Amino acid sequence: PLSSRVKSLIAQMTIEEKAGQLTLMPTPWTSAAAARINPAAAVKNVENLVGDAQAGRLGGVFNGFGVDAHRKLQTAAVKGRLGIPMIFAGDVIHGYRTVFPVPLGEAASFDTALAERTARAAAEEMAATGFDWVFAPMVDVGRDARWGRTVEGAGEDVLLSSDMARARTRGFQGRSLADNGSVAACMKHFAAYGAAEGGVDYNTADISERTLREVYLPPFQAAIDAGCATVMAAFEDIAGRPVHGSHEMLTGILRGEMGFDGLVVGDYNGDLEIAARGLAADARDAARIAIMAGLDMSMASGIYRDHLPSLVAAGEVPMERVDEAVGRVLTLKEKLGLFDDPFRRMDPKRQQARMRTKPALSLAREAAQRSIVLLKNEGDLLPLPRAGKRIAIIGPFAEGQSNLHGPWTLFADSKEAVDLAAGIRAAVADPALVAVVKGSEVTSPVSGGIDAAVAAARAADIVILAVGEREAMSGEASSRDLIVLPAPQQALAEAVAAVGKPMVVALRNGRALALEGAVLNAPAILVTWFLGSESGNATADILFGAAGPSGRLPVSFPISAGQVPYYYAHRRPGRPNNTRFITVKNEARFPFGHGLTYGKISYSDLSLSTRQIGKNGQLRATLTVKNDGKHAARELVQIYVQDVVASVTQPIRELKAYQHVDLAPGQSKQVSFTLSAADLAFLGLDLKPLIEPGQFTLWAAPSAEAAGLTAGFEVIA
Ligand code: IFM
Repeated sequence: PLSSRVKSLIAQMTIEEKAGQLTLMPTPWTSAAAARINPAAAVKNVENLVGDAQAGRLGGVFNGFGVDAHRKLQTAAVKGRLGIPMIFAGDVIHGYRTVFPVPLGEAASFDTALAERTARAAAEEMAATGFDWVFAPMVDVGRDARWGRTVEGAGEDVLLSSDMARARTRGFQGRSLADNGSVAACMKHFAAYGAAEGGVDYNTADISERTLREVYLPPFQAAIDAGCATVMAAFEDIAGRPVHGSHEMLTGILRGEMGFDGLVVGDYNGDLEIAARGLAADARDAARIAIMAGLDMSMASGIYRDHLPSLVAAGEVPMERVDEAVGRVLTLKEKLGLFDDPFRRMDPKRQQARMRTKPALSLAREAAQRSIVLLKNEGDLLPLPRAGKRIAIIGPFAEGQSNLHGPWTLFADSKEAVDLAAGIRAAVADPALVAVVKGSEVTSPVSGGIDAAVAAARAADIVILAVGEREAMSGEASSRDLIVLPAPQQALAEAVAAVGKPMVVALRNGRALALEGAVLNAPAILVTWFLGSESGNATADILFGAAGPSGRLPVSFPISAGQVPYYYAHRRPGRPNNTRFITVKNEARFPFGHGLTYGKISYSDLSLSTRQIGKNGQLRATLTVKNDGKHAARELVQIYVQDVVASVTQPIRELKAYQHVDLAPGQSKQVSFTLSAADLAFLGLDLKPLIEPGQFTLWAAPSAEAAGLTAGFEVIA
C-alpha cells in the first residue's frame, strides 16, 4: 500500500514527471579516484544534469562522486515543482574507499557473519558520501569460470550463494533503510545471467526451467526473504526472451511466485537492447515492452523519459502501470528517509570522518585473511620463518598497487592499498633480505625479465611467485576463453621453478583457474584472489603464520581449461567411468570446498541420531574432528547429501550444511549438524518442492569430492 504522501504526489504529477522518476542516469565521471583528489572536477561533472534534476526529468543518478556533487543535484531536485528528492546509487560491490576482498574471494571464507559485516562497513562509507542505494549484492550463481562476472558472486554452489545473498543484503540494509548508515540493496542480475552460453558476457542463455528454478533463483529468494528492496534485471536473453522484456520473469516469477514487492531497475541500456536483440522495432517499442514486462525504472538509455508520454497518450501503456512503477520509486525514497531529509546522507563532516577508519581497515585485513585458500602445502613449507631467510618475490604481482583491489572499485584509490612486497617487508625481521623482481608483465614478456628472475631465485632461500590475472581480466565484459595463466607468466614460472628453490605460488585471480606445469607442481599454492585494501598484509599474515589459512574454494578448479563449465553438483552420469574427456577425468583438480589449514586434520566417528526420518523430521549428524598438527587450525566441516533414487535425477552430491571448528594443536572436538527433511526437498516433475521417501547418503567431508565419512539414512512417508 502506498503512503498518503506518495499517493498525493502521484496525483499531482504530469506524465513527463512520472517518466522522469522512472529514469536513472549515469554521471559522466572519469575516475572516482581522480574525483576524490579533485572534488571540484566531480562537481563540475554533474553540471549538465542539474537542469534535468530541477525539471523533474531524473529519478536518480548513479556512480557520481562525493557529498558536494550529490548535494548540488539534490538541491536542484528539491527546488523542482514537486520537490521530489533524487536517489543516488553506486556500484559498491566489495567496499567503497576501504576495499574488501572480491565477493568470490570473500565467499571462500564461508562466513556469512563476516560478509554481513563487510557489507555493513561498505554501506556506512558510501552512505557517508551521499549514496542511498547500492547495486549489490550480485547473487548470480557462477558455474562457468570463463564468465568474467563469477568474481562478483559467491561461486558455484546454491546454498553458499543463498547464504551470502542473505548476509550481504542484511549488511547493506541494516535494521532500517532510514538509518543514515544504511543503503537499499539491489540483488542482481535477475536471473541466470551466469548461465550465458560459453561464459560470454551478455550472451543468450538456453537453460531449462528446472535449472533456472533449482540453481539460479534460490539466491534471489534468499535476498527477497532478507528484505532486499530492489532488483536489477539481467542483460541476457533466456530461451528467446530478453529478461528486460520478459513478463514471465519480471512479473510472473519475481512478483507472483517469489513474492518480491520492491523496485525492479534495468541494467545499463538493457531495455533499449531489447530492440538490438530484435524483440522490438525501435526504442519506443522497447520502452513499451519493458514497462509492460514489469521493469519499473530504466537505467541509462533514457527511453522511458523519451517515450512513455507518447505511449500513454496513444493508449499503448496504461497510466496505472506507470503509476505502479512510480509508486515503487517514491516508496523506496520514502523508506530511505529522503522525503524527511533529502540531504541526510550528505554531511561533509561524516564524509571526512567515515572513510578508511581503523576498524574498517582491520575488518578488511581480517576478511582478506579469511578469503585466502591454501591449495597445497607439501612438506609443510608454509608457514615460512620470519627471520634468517632470503626471500625473492617474483612475478607481475610482486609489487605495485594496480591489481590489488579487483574489479568494481570505482571509488577507491589503488594507491592506498598494501601490495605484496610491502606486506612481506613489514612481516619479516629483516626487510633487507627481501628482493623483488617482476620477471614478466601479466600478458607479455619483459626483456631480460626471466634472467633477472632466475638470478633472484638463485640468490634466495625461498621464492614467492606472484602470478595470475590482472583486475581487468575478470568483471563485466571480461570473459576469458581459456582459464589458464597467461603464457609469459607460465614461462616465468617454469624458469624460476627450475632453479630448484622452495617455491610458494601466490595466485592473483578473479575466477577458478586451470593450473599447469611449474605452478601446479609448486609445493605450496595460495589463492589470494583480489583481496582489497589490506591485500599484502593479509597475504603476509598467512605466509608467515600470524593467521592460519581457513578459506575454501567456492568454485571448483578444473584439471584442464577444456572442462569448463565444471561444477561439483552435476547430475549423476549413467556411465561414471566413461563420462569424461579422453585425456581428463571428470573431476576437479581442486574441488569446491577444498582448502588446507596449517593443522593436521582428521575426521572420525560419524554417527546419525536416527536412520529414518519422516517428512517433518530432523536428524543430527555428529562427528569428531581432530588436529594432530603443530599449528592451530580453523577447519570447515561440510555436509553433503545424495538422494540415491528419486523421481528426478539428482546431483552427485549437494552441500547441505557447513560449520567452522577452531582446533588448537592436539585438540579434538565433536561437531553436530541438524538436517531437516525439508533440506532434502527437490523440485518434482511439476517443478514444485517435493520431499520424496527413499534412501540418502550423507558425507561429512573436507571438500565436495573428498571421500570423507559417509552414512546412510532413509526418509519415510
Ligand atoms: O550495476 C551495474 C551492472 O552490474 C552491470 N552494468 C552496469 C551497472 C551500473 O553500473
